[in-house]
Amino acid sequence: MIDQAERLRAKLKEEVSQSHPFKTIAVVSGKGGVGKSNYSLNFSISLCKKGHRVLLFDLDIGMGNVEILMGRSAQYSIADFIKKDIPLKNIISEGPFGLNYIGGGTGLSHILKLDDMQISRFTGELSQLIRNYDYIILDMGAGITEESAKFILSAQEVAVITTPEPTSITDAYSVMKHIHLMDDSIPFHLVINRSDGEREGQETYKRIAAAASRFLGRDTDLLGIIPDDRSIQQAVKRQIPFIIYRENSAASKAIRTMTEKAGAEPGEQAGEHHPSQFISKLKKFLFNRG
Ligand SMILES: Nc1ncnc2c1ncn2[C@@H]1O[C@H](COP(=O)(O)OP(=O)(O)OP(=O)(O)O)[C@@H](O)[C@H]1O
Ligand SMILES: [Mg+2]
Repeated sequence: MIDQAERLRAKLKEEVSQSHPFKTIAVVSGKGGVGKSNYSLNFSISLCKKGHRVLLFDLDIGMGNVEILMGRSAQYSIADFIKKDIPLKNIISEGPFGLNYIGGGTGLSHILKLDDMQISRFTGELSQLIRNYDYIILDMGAGITEESAKFILSAQEVAVITTPEPTSITDAYSVMKHIHLMDDSIPFHLVINRSDGEREGQETYKRIAAAASRFLGRDTDLLGIIPDDRSIQQAVKRQIPFIIYRENSAASKAIRTMTEKAGAEPGEQAGEHHPSQFISKLKKFLFNRG
């Protein structure tokens, strides 16, 4: 049996040597159905293909569908963690290219009803687990609720997905404003999805960035532009992630470009964001039930 001092020494050593990149990204949108889950899943797989270790957490409470997009179904859900005391690590499932994911669905609503003991158990186990990853991607539901905000505000950055449609743009700005009012320093990165070409994507980005700059005093950068691509609908119907279904489609290429951009960043920022920061924020928000 390892004694406590030894365990502490091992933990310290681990913290010191922890120079691998670590990033938590919450994927949000104002309007529903704009491509968050497809982006989250395919971006995650693309990161895996580049050798990163990724945990994709489907946090669309009650409507999770990341599993459906890859034609898999997880053996356990968060409900099993809570009701049956199944360790958190056992509810993690494996997707393509070594992707790890926690499926969503109705079981997730249990996360919102945790008592203090369960919050400690959840965050305690999660803090151990996330040390095994370089990226934690949180696929959120559309809009923002008091509960989803807890996860969003714990992340290091927020990826806002929008299409060029005016309704989607307006809702994207609203959700950014909402988040900004709770935390004015969390970085926003925009993904313009279903764009009819580069130019429309750039124009959409500029409109949102201008509004954020003018009314919120915020800088917003452009993470990428994903074209409207019929092969995505085909991939969804076949339940195959689109970057696997059509590796060389325009949308797949766009995802790869974003992966390269993202892959370059955490290395530079290594040490700035630590898994324990994510956990301590999450703990604070989950305990604060208002
Ligand atoms: N770039 C694209 N080109 C063509 N169709 C797309 C594209 N992105 C998404 N779609 C279509 O939009 C649908 C919705 O995508 P997705 O489920 O990823 O959205 P979502 O934002 O996660 O939705 P929800 O708000 O319900 O969680 C897909 O099933 C697909 O048919
Ligand atoms: Mg979704």
